[in-house]
Amino acid sequence: MKVVVSLAELWEVRRFLNSPVGLVPTMGYLHEGHLSLVRAARQECACVVVSIFVNPTQFSPTEDLSTYPRDLERDLDLLEKEGVDLVWTPTKEIMYPADFQSWVLVEEVTKPLEGAMRPGHFKGVTTVVAKLLNAVQPQKAFFGQKDAQQSVVIRQMVKDLNYPVEVKICPTVREPDNLAMSSRNAYLQPAERQAATVLSRALFAAREAYQNGERNANRLRKTMQAVFNQEPLARVQYISCADPNTLQELDLIEDHALLSVAVFIGKTRLIDNILLP
Ligand code: PAJ
Repeated sequence: MKVVVSLAELWEVRRFLNSPVGLVPTMGYLHEGHLSLVRAARQECACVVVSIFVNPTQFSPTEDLSTYPRDLERDLDLLEKEGVDLVWTPTKEIMYPADFQSWVLVEEVTKPLEGAMRPGHFKGVTTVVAKLLNAVQPQKAFFGQKDAQQSVVIRQMVKDLNYPVEVKICPTVREPDNLAMSSRNAYLQPAERQAATVLSRALFAAREAYQNGERNANRLRKTMQAVFNQEPLARVQYISCADPNTLQELDLIEDHALLSVAVFIGKTRLIDNILLP
């Protein structure tokens, strides 16, 4: 496994990688969710590239950039065991030199949900993912359903800007108690870690109502809210039942729906989602 930092080193190694090349973009502090993307890439691609970069432009000034968990040694160890060919760990000076001034903006699908709660977040995500795709030039790129809106936004960007890459979305990997894996779970105190199961419990309660025939979006939102009301450590930011492609809120579920939630558990902000049916 090669580990490179500069663009020149990356390009030097990239020239000799067999196609198809699969890229798995990450911010590190890897867990089984990330590794499931690496395994999907390993299955489908001749060569696997993983990027590790805690992208400062997708964090607002009040968010957790400085405390975001990092452990490069451990990450490299895990990736080596997965048979990854190349790891790119650029610095912020490489990604954003002092005279940096070009951004990628995706419009409609970045407006609701995470985009509404985290202004500027997706401008940072789309810009860094565009830079990663341009630098690595993979044939396939792998993302997680865990970040449902991010997946929609990246698909839109790839389509709108004619990136010659196939975007693959992999299922959310969960802990045994169904908490979606996330690097941010590391922030949770023991009582909060227990309370954090409320996200999946709320989503699964709504799914059960759906399976029992409920198609009214508001009633599904209320089902989720009722579960959160039982958890004193949870502070809900949004509860959504939206069209999985446009992310517009639904009144009635006719075919597909994306149920998604954003919740503070103490100071830690967690998100989760499921697709219906
Ligand atoms: P990060 O949060 O490190 O996640 C990297 C990738 O892993 C994303 O595609 C994310 O959706 C996926 N992922 C995270 N948790 C997962 C889980 N429990 N199951 C399945 N997949 C999971 O998302 C980012 O980084 C950044 O925004 C990035 C795309 C790298 C741009 O900076």
